[in-house]
Amino acid sequence: MKLLLSLLFCLCIPAVFAAEANTPKLDIGKGGQCVKDTQWMRINHMHLLIHQRDEAVRKGIRSEQISLKNCVDCHASTKDDSVVARDDSFCVGCHRYAAVSIDCFECHASKRKIALANKDAQ
Ligand code: HEC
Ligand code: HEC
Ligand code: HEC
Repeated sequence: MKLLLSLLFCLCIPAVFAAEANTPKLDIGKGGQCVKDTQWMRINHMHLLIHQRDEAVRKGIRSEQISLKNCVDCHASTKDDSVVARDDSFCVGCHRYAAVSIDCFECHASKRKIALANKDAQ
């Protein structure tokens, strides 16, 4: 019974995000081509990042393409260069909707590189 319940629970998350109508309206950011297809990303992006973090920290392996900086560069809003500033900001907009709380941006920049460089120059 317990196994069945946890199985049902696991199946629920992808089911919710598989349905286009159920995702919140998000500011996708710059556009272009994601590192993998949208469906896959919707369900699996966290594994990509957590895995990358472990690889980067423990083994010093870094990938240019699949790095948090790269995600932010593309997905930060064209209005405020941020992935967390507003209710419809890309990362936080969906996480709030799904009641996920992550603390990545305490250490990692939530704004795109260009915005950060401009701020330094001022
Ligand atoms: C070159 C630009 C680019 C990069 C880099 C990029 N993405 Fe994307 N991503 C997109 C675009 C554009 C879409 C939306 C595609 C669509 O709507 O069909 C998308 C879709 C997504 C989705 C699904 C959104 C939804 O509405 O369901 C997630 C989640 C996501 N990206 C996370 C990430 C993460 C995490 C990274 C870094 C590992 C990343 N993306 C890197 C451009 C990018
Ligand atoms: C306490 C600070 C801290 C927090 C919180 C944190 N990280 Fe990191 N992260 C680091 C440091 C330090 C590195 C190594 C930086 C380097 O080598 O450039 C790193 C590296 C990474 C990398 C590889 C380098 C890159 O730019 O992509 C990824 C991916 C990553 N972290 C993802 C995450 C994610 C996802 C979260 C939230 C679940 C998170 N981090 C939370 C400190 C933190
Ligand atoms: C379309 C919705 C959506 C978007 C957009 C999205 N996420 Fe997520 N994210 C989720 C969901 C849902 C979960 C929790 C999945 C679970 O509990 O298994 C999650 C979990 C995560 C986790 C793991 C948290 C943990 O503590 O295990 C990380 C890291 C993460 N997201 C990073 C990002 C980053 C960075 C972005 C923006 C580039 C982003 N996400 C955009 C829906 C989204």
